[in-house]
Amino acid sequence: MEKIMPIGKISDFDEGKGKSVKIDDDTQVAVFKIGGKIFVIEESCPHQGGPLSEGEVEGLNVICPWHQMKYELESGNSSSDAWDKEYKVKAFKVILEGEDVKIEIPDL
Ligand code: FES
Repeated sequence: MEKIMPIGKISDFDEGKGKSVKIDDDTQVAVFKIGGKIFVIEESCPHQGGPLSEGEVEGLNVICPWHQMKYELESGNSSSDAWDKEYKVKAFKVILEGEDVKIEIPDL
């Protein structure tokens, strides 16, 4: 069974920016609000662990602040041209209940 975890209120997140949210000891996510819509991906870049919440947002992509790998916020897929396309982050399903933002964490 997947877990549904609260990550805050819509107003906790700034438009066009990322914010790191710790869910539990195993899960830290990067939350982005773009055009009022919330996107949630893993916080840690699979290349060398760069903090994706601190990355620059470009359209619906985030650029890792360490070595500029780019990821699609919706799918978590790499959208870099020059880098290995196999790099990918987990993108979480977002559930909105009024002002409350929750994510679905699949069973591993
Ligand atoms: S740690 Fe993210 S691109 Fe290197």
